[in-house]
This record gives sequence, C-alpha cells and structure tokens, in this order.
Amino acid sequence: MTRTSPIATRFRHVTGGLLSPVSKADVGETAGRLLEQGYDVLAWADPFFPDRSLPASVRAAMLAEIEAGLPEHYTMPIGDLGLRRTIAARIAATTGLQVDPQRHVIVTPGSDSGLLLALMPLLEPGDEVLVPDPSYPSNVRDVEILGAVPVTVPLDAADGYRLDVAAFERARTERTRVVLLSHPNNPTGTVFRREWLEELAAWIVANDLVLVSDQAFEDHVYDDLEMVTPATLPGMWERTISVYSISKGLGLSGLRVGYVVADTPFMDVYYGAAVNVVGATSTVSQAGAVAALQDPTILPANRAELLEHREVAWRLLHDVPGVRATWPESGILLWLDVSALGSGAEVADHLVRNARVLVNDGAAYGPSGADHVRLVFGCYRSAAQLETVLTRVRAALLELAAERGLVE
Ligand SMILES: Cc1ncc(COP(=O)(O)O)c(C=O)c1O
Repeated sequence: MTRTSPIATRFRHVTGGLLSPVSKADVGETAGRLLEQGYDVLAWADPFFPDRSLPASVRAAMLAEIEAGLPEHYTMPIGDLGLRRTIAARIAATTGLQVDPQRHVIVTPGSDSGLLLALMPLLEPGDEVLVPDPSYPSNVRDVEILGAVPVTVPLDAADGYRLDVAAFERARTERTRVVLLSHPNNPTGTVFRREWLEELAAWIVANDLVLVSDQAFEDHVYDDLEMVTPATLPGMWERTISVYSISKGLGLSGLRVGYVVADTPFMDVYYGAAVNVVGATSTVSQAGAVAALQDPTILPANRAELLEHREVAWRLLHDVPGVRATWPESGILLWLDVSALGSGAEVADHLVRNARVLVNDGAAYGPSGADHVRLVFGCYRSAAQLETVLTRVRAALLELAAERGLVE
C-alpha cells in the first residue's frame, strides 16, 4: 500500500495546527493572535491568567536554584528525588496511600505529557478506551494518536453527570483495555462521588481493566464534597495510574510540572521509557514545585479567591435566558448549555465578536458538548476584573437571547 502523506493516519483527527482553518483556543495561533489584540481569553484552564500570581516561596526556590543550584543540568529523566519524596509525602497526607518515591512516582513536564506517557504502554493499535462524554479533549485525542480507539460513554446532565456503570458496560467490548477519567471532570467540574467510583472500580476489577485517573483538578473541591482517589479503592492500587499537575490548584501552569503515580509493574516501563518520552522536566521548575507542594499557604489562598470568582461567574451567567449553567463543584470552569441560543461554535463566535472574549466551543469536549461553551472563571487575580469581563459576556448573551425571542 502506498501512502499519500508522510503523516501517520493516527494523527488524522488533529486539527487547528498551522495549516488548518480551524480556530481553537489551545492549538495553533488563535489565542496568541487574540491576546495580542487585547481580547480577554477565558479559554485556558489557567488560574489567575493573565495576571501575576507566583507565590513568594516558589519564586525564592527557583531563584535559589539559579543562584546556588545546578539549573543548567538535567535531573534524572524520572525527576528529582527530592521532588518525588515531596510528592509521596503529599499523597500520603491527602489519601493515606504509602507510595514509594523510588518506585511509584515519575515527574513529567506537565500532566498533558504525563497523561500521554500513562497511556502509551497500555494500548495496542485497535484497543479501546472508555472515555466519559463530556470530558477533557486530550482523553480522546491521545488515544487516537496512539492508534487506539476512544469509545465515549455518555454522562447525563440531568442526572448530575454521574458515572453510570450500566453505560460503561454497554460500551465495553473484547477490545476494551482502559477507562480514562478526568476527576474532577473537565469541563463540567463534576466531582465523582464515592459510591459511583466504588461501583465503577468493582466493575473495572471484574473486567480486568486499567483505570487512568487524571486528577489535575483535585486540589479545589468545593461545598464539602469528598475528593476520592480511585487508587485507594479495593483492588485499584494495582490497576490505577493516577495523573497529577501543579498547574491548576497551585496555579503554576508555566512551570510545566506534573507527576504520575502507579504500582511497580507500570512504573518499571515508565521509568524505562522516561528518557524517550519525557526527556526530563526543567530543573528550575522542579525546585519551584518542591517549594509549592511544601508551602501550606498556597492552596487555601488560591481557594478563597477562586470561590469568590465562582460566585461572580454564577451570579452573572446562571440566569441568562437560554443558558443552563452547571454548578461548578470544583476548580475553575463553568460549563454552559447554550442550546437555546445556538451551537457552542456559534455562541463562542458571537462572544469573540461582540464581547471580545474567547471561550471554548463545547464540541471539543465530546459529542454531547456541541451545544455548550466552557469558560474559565478562575481567570484574573481580581474578582472585580472577572466581573467586568463577564458583564460583557452577559450582555452579549442577552443580545443573542433577545434575537431568539427569549427576552421580553
Ligand atoms: C483535565 C486536565 N488534565 C490535564 C491537563 C494538563 O495540564 P498540565 O499539562 O498543565 O499539567 C489539563 C489542562 O487543562 C486538564 O484540564
């Protein structure tokens, strides 16, 4: 068979790069161009963006690494041992899991690459991965890039986006290998409840599957909800790969530090392939990550601000005629059903043109997202600044609602 393109077919779903006319917030130049022109970008899940928010402890640790450390040299590809120890201590403190920093933890340049690394050794071409719909776009794209097949499992908005084991069972075939969750979920902010996870875990064990649990948003779970780490559930430590990030809760996306935690048979392969897949994470960033993970003040301070932001976003947007908002149980994201106003693409386009604000077209998050938009309420340091921008968003949505005859 002759190939007509030098690009492997596994990449056929990758769009929005250099040559494609598709405009998306997180690929290609779209967001960069809009930022240059003074638009507000609420489309990157990046707390406090674009304002300064580097904690003093993290700044000091990185400067100390530059002044007195070895910033110009690699750490081991699997990550600095001091950072892996800090990560293990944190996991013990938050979950009770006793992970060995020399056997169960690998540091990655952000959790996006951690997620791809996590999946790589699990999948042969044609294997199937069950991915809730809606969820983080990489959950689908990564699987395709690896030559495997994402199979979406619908989550029901009317039922609080709960995990429904019967839906997973309907989607399971002989080729199913992996269940991939973003927990809490992006874009809905849903915190999966203990009962749902216990039921899913028992089903995963019964069917001899592996769970990849992306917990990038785990640090800020609100309303006294419980953040359950699936690896702590019966039979799950030996079949769960947990993926973490310092980008979201700690608000340090620019450092590009994530980490993957798993049992020894998985980690044997991750450690072996680290030099090929990971390279090594930035030495200065790892020093900053140690300080961030050890500083007990950062998470509570960020949380207090993000709760204010959530209140502002909800107040301004939940009652717009034609909009149905999902109450964000975690994190920094607001998920809006705009089906009465238009498709997600149409509404996002209207907001760029009329409010000069970039949000995400929900279609990127799965088939059920097509009539939704996602926006990041965690942007800006000040809730007042967010209020100014969302007031423009509200006005633009009200215009659309009026055009659709939804406003008197
Ligand atoms: C669910 C989820 N996982 C992982 C990531 C990647 O984050 P990072 O690579 O900055 O750790 C994101 C970023 O938006 C995300 O939303």
